[in-house]
Amino acid sequence: MFSWLKKDTVPSSPDELVLDPDNIPAHIAIIMDGNGRWAQKRHLPRVAGHKQGMNTVKTIAIAASDLGVKVLTLYAFSTENWKRPEDEVNYLMKLPVDFFDTFVPDLIKNNVRVNVMGYIDKLPKQTQKAVYDAMDDTKDCTGMVLNFALNYGSRAEITTAVTEIAKEVAAGKLDPDAITDDMIGQHLMTANLGEYADPDLIIRTSGEERISNFLLWQIAYSEFVFMTPHWPEFTPELLQEAVYTYQHRKRRFGGLKNK
Ligand code: FPP
Repeated sequence: MFSWLKKDTVPSSPDELVLDPDNIPAHIAIIMDGNGRWAQKRHLPRVAGHKQGMNTVKTIAIAASDLGVKVLTLYAFSTENWKRPEDEVNYLMKLPVDFFDTFVPDLIKNNVRVNVMGYIDKLPKQTQKAVYDAMDDTKDCTGMVLNFALNYGSRAEITTAVTEIAKEVAAGKLDPDAITDDMIGQHLMTANLGEYADPDLIIRTSGEERISNFLLWQIAYSEFVFMTPHWPEFTPELLQEAVYTYQHRKRRFGGLKNK
């Protein structure tokens, strides 16, 4: 237990795992990895892992909202995931349809607003409809934003932003010397998250320790927590442990003082 915590921050029992309510990461982003391995370990087809992973999304979305998280971003399908076998891709494209069909009422009950970032227009029509309907149905919710990265890739996102900015320069509307960090941020898919665009905490499950083309610009000062359980077995308690770890980090943002 707590194997991912630094020795001096390991609580001696789970009862000690008390979170500081004033230091909940406003934006948590999760790379939900290990669905396939979870299924293979149980001699199940890989898609059974994705199905169980979808159930975990339901539990963790509510747990994060209950913790007071402002934005929960979940990496559900990358621009590189199209390389997977057709059957698996088709299954992954149907998951948002099933998820929103069954879960939007609970999201509304919990005041959670759905946002989807990614190249939505390249998704199958049925998936696009599910996504736009979910965003529309929850548009008046004022609590946590449940932000799915769907057909999302950070290099593509940055390339799109650079192209847009270059066009403004070419049209004589923008002086290249006036380009700022903030302006680049305004052209990224997280722009509508406002002050919460950059994640405070990134979690990756399943023991892999890499970033896989996820939010490359936005994670400049994020805290990373890598955890060994596979996504289908991730729990609200594990989420709390990740937040506990986050709360024991010293964030300096390049300066000298803890923020
Ligand atoms: C990575 O595990 C997981 C994915 C590529 C898909 C993640 C999708 C879900 C958890 C369901 C999303 C739900 C909604 C509502 C959109 P992997 O398949 O790469 O696992 P492996 O590394 O063990 O093979």
